Amino acid sequence: MSGGTASGGTANGTRKALVTGASGGIGAATARLLARRGVDVWITYAGDQEGARRTAASCAAHGVRTAVSRLDLRSTEDIARLAARVRAEWGELHILVNNAGTCPYTAWPDIGPDEWDAVMDTNARGAFFLTKEAIALLRAARGDRAIVNVASLAGQVGGISTSVHYAASKAAVLAMTRSFARLLAAEGIRVNAVAPGPIRTPMTGGLDPGARDGLAAAVPLGRLGLPGEVAHAVCLLASPDAAFTTGATYDVNGGLRTG
Ligand SMILES: NC(=O)c1ccc[n+]([C@@H]2O[C@H](COP(=O)([O-])OP(=O)(O)OC[C@H]3O[C@@H](n4cnc5c(N)ncnc54)[C@H](OP(=O)(O)O)[C@@H]3O)[C@@H](O)[C@H]2O)c1
Repeated sequence: MSGGTASGGTANGTRKALVTGASGGIGAATARLLARRGVDVWITYAGDQEGARRTAASCAAHGVRTAVSRLDLRSTEDIARLAARVRAEWGELHILVNNAGTCPYTAWPDIGPDEWDAVMDTNARGAFFLTKEAIALLRAARGDRAIVNVASLAGQVGGISTSVHYAASKAAVLAMTRSFARLLAAEGIRVNAVAPGPIRTPMTGGLDPGARDGLAAAVPLGRLGLPGEVAHAVCLLASPDAAFTTGATYDVNGGLRTG
């Protein structure tokens, strides 16, 4: 993990967010929207350093502080190092967005133990241990504080185009959301999830074009969602406008699941 590299100036008292997996897709859109709203953003990437730098540059253009770290959520050492760095440089967090995730499109008979572990370790175990570290930083901040977990429609209804391990990991994310919502409510820390349906990002770029078109046709609104449409839901849940909302799941799925 490389260290956080602060850039840009900010007034004292600015809200501070950590957004994982912001080298592209939903995480990048979320970081940019938070920055547009004046929030300092610390972003992470796993392999795409250039993408993360691009995201940070577009955030910094809004005049907020930005920092970039490499983070592999499968590594608890990486997670602890990141938390220590945020503690040393920023001292507090108001917002944690557990966005990073992985979704190999593997048919269930071909999923082996290593791939099962990699998906669960990234999407569920990593999110748990990062949340555990981040709670101390959220406790250090004042005012509205929020964790937003990016789950998935697959975690609610099982995999559609996606894989069994992925769906299981996202169901775990939804269960953790509800657990932490109850555990942290008395301290005023809110914990919510968004559950996107199929969104046009590098992740769905991994589907073959026929499968992607079939998926879009199955969506009642007739298309894949856009990263910015998920980012708006994340930013609402992360903002004081949602001050009475905790333990909730905000569906962003074009009508694929209602009610
Ligand atoms: N796209 C969809 O249709 C959809 C639907 C429902 C839910 N989601 C969820 O939305 C979130 C964002 O996905 P996306 O669609 O924006 O996909 P994406 O563009 O592929 O972004 C995934 C991000 O996660 C990072 N990442 C991957 N493995 C990691 C690891 N082991 N440790 C730390 N970070 C890791 C990636 O880093 P690098 O790029 O640097 O490697 C990237 O920044 C994910 O949790 C995904 O499950 C997506």
